[in-house]
Amino acid sequence: MSTAFDKSLFLRELDTQWLGQSIRYFDELASTNTYLKKIPRDEIEQGMICLTNHQTKGRGQYEREWESRNGRNLTFSMAFIPPKAERFHVLTLACALAMVECFNELLTTSCAAIKWPNDVLVNDKKTAGILTETVFNGNTFDRLIIGIGLNVNQKNFSAELSGLATSLSLEMEKDLDREQLLATLMQRIEHKYALWQKQGSGLIKSINRNIVGYGQWVGLEIDDELQEDQFKLLGIGEKGQLLMLNREGGIESFSYEQVSLITH
Ligand code: BTN
Repeated sequence: MSTAFDKSLFLRELDTQWLGQSIRYFDELASTNTYLKKIPRDEIEQGMICLTNHQTKGRGQYEREWESRNGRNLTFSMAFIPPKAERFHVLTLACALAMVECFNELLTTSCAAIKWPNDVLVNDKKTAGILTETVFNGNTFDRLIIGIGLNVNQKNFSAELSGLATSLSLEMEKDLDREQLLATLMQRIEHKYALWQKQGSGLIKSINRNIVGYGQWVGLEIDDELQEDQFKLLGIGEKGQLLMLNREGGIESFSYEQVSLITH
């Protein structure tokens, strides 16, 4: 059953300086990322968000489709206009960290974790995915769009996803108020954004502490090929790249386009 999203209630609950204060809401939309990528620059402001109750052509990483049941989840995108086009992977991970902290608080256990580079797991199953995209005008950086698909109250998943995906309501055994949840997430993400801008080491450390496989020997697929040897996950570097120790004692650095982690 689809439930309407109450935009006025969300705005009443929202306690941020800038993130989410400007919102474009649609009952139905192809993709919130595509919407924020396409609207003219003079309509965009830092922290504007786009949310839809029913996303019909949601996009995931690697041109995959993002499935989300009508009126059950949160499918939204945020527009950021940072002064420099750099370290975006760290900001993506900072958003993942904001979700992990929020979910652990709701579930009152440490069952949420970041699956590098852009997923959030609860009890080892995917609960949220992030799609980060940039817009350039010629060579000039224009905006950064971070889209989040979060399974909130969905109870059933397609055969392909069942066993791999979950929702907060399945894990908590109760439905959640999406307006309140989004308002809480906005506040946490706004805070992480400030830490990201400051470039202190604390944010990277917090991300590392919450990454699945941190400090462990894990399998690695590089360009779709499973590597024979395992690597020790040392954490992420200043640019969000994955730092791995190989069996010979050398440190290798991987960008997210190349690798996926095999943690069990
Ligand atoms: C992934 O896990 O591959 C990333 C999924 C990202 C899905 C979100 S839903 C809101 C926003 N709009 C999109 O089209 N995609 C992102």
